Amino acid sequence: MTSNELLLLRAIRKEPVERTPIWIMRQAGRYLPEYRALREKYDFLTVCKTPELAAEVTLQPVRRFGFDAAILFSDILVIPEALGQNLAFLEDHGPKLSPAVRTEKEIETLSTAGLTEKLAFVAQAVRLIRQETEGKTALIGFSGSPFTLAAYMIEGKPTRHFKHIKSMLYTRPELLHRLLQTLTAAVTDYLKMQIEAGAQVVQIFDTWGSILPVHLFEEFSARYLNQIAAELQALQTPVIVFSMGGMDHLVQLANSPAQVLGVDWSTDFQQAFKLFADEFALQGNLDPTVLYGDRAIIRREVERVLSVFGSRSGHIFNLGHGILPDIPLENVQFLVEEVRRQSTQFRQNKK
Ligand code: CP3
Repeated sequence: MTSNELLLLRAIRKEPVERTPIWIMRQAGRYLPEYRALREKYDFLTVCKTPELAAEVTLQPVRRFGFDAAILFSDILVIPEALGQNLAFLEDHGPKLSPAVRTEKEIETLSTAGLTEKLAFVAQAVRLIRQETEGKTALIGFSGSPFTLAAYMIEGKPTRHFKHIKSMLYTRPELLHRLLQTLTAAVTDYLKMQIEAGAQVVQIFDTWGSILPVHLFEEFSARYLNQIAAELQALQTPVIVFSMGGMDHLVQLANSPAQVLGVDWSTDFQQAFKLFADEFALQGNLDPTVLYGDRAIIRREVERVLSVFGSRSGHIFNLGHGILPDIPLENVQFLVEEVRRQSTQFRQNKK
């Protein structure tokens, strides 16, 4: 079987599929006992930077649940680190980037020179993963969006109000654009590297696009997402753009050169289907907290999402944001079984 025939890739091209492919955001991570066991021995960044460990963790959820895609195990913040910031993950405090970049000088000294060499461990992990997934499971590479990366780089640590990036946006917009341009070049090179190493799809996470008022979303986030997707077109590898801003932001991506739009959990999937299913494949959008529910609830909510596409191709089943670390494993197992069972029935017009 050639990689062209993988279920996920067929769904993205809207070719006939026997069932809806499924993977879940943050599928490798703390809800898995085998991940926690490995993390007893190695810290998070060591796992990211050791290709054999990153490959192992990438494959853990695929082995356990038979997902239709593996997503490279890494983090969006390896780019700011490669650009020169210090990165640390503090237990229970999330990521810290220091020093935060806020001045003209700090932004000008960031350089993309040697970026892919510094991140060569990611390319090596991709190559190792492909040896295991070949012909069975699609491998998704990823990056953060320029705006999301800028938010972390400027704030330096998790924040509620994003006051540093948002005040820069109003007081020194040209400075923020300079940083976003540097990041657009970095993300493009980084994703090209992942694709050349073997990533078959790439996803750009625009998590913090959500903090932009709708009328500024195009200028500070969508424009750069579109530039990256346009640059990648020549490599003929599908791009998934996932933005967390709900329907108002999604509408601003209607002209994106990306092939797939990620739909967050807050968005009406039926409405997204009506607006975008002709132009794009769609990914989403089960509310991650449905997985705290019992089987009847999971079954009902899976049906709600799958019924939107019915027997039609062009849908990748996913959560509408990352899985939470305390979700019971048996609920994930049940989710996967239900998506398989129900989507097969939809295809056979039994539902
Ligand atoms: O999806 C996957 O399984 C692939 C791996 C992956 C991770 N981070 C591993 C990780 C991916 C795709 C990401 C993306 C990421 N990282 C995003 C965008 C997606 C989103 O959820 O919105 C963001 C904003 C980050 C930054 C980041 N990394 C934060 C805020 C945190 C701490 C929050 C937390 O959940 O603890 C991380 C750490 C992180 N990245 C972990 C994992 C498995 C937890 C690390 C650990 O303690 O083992």
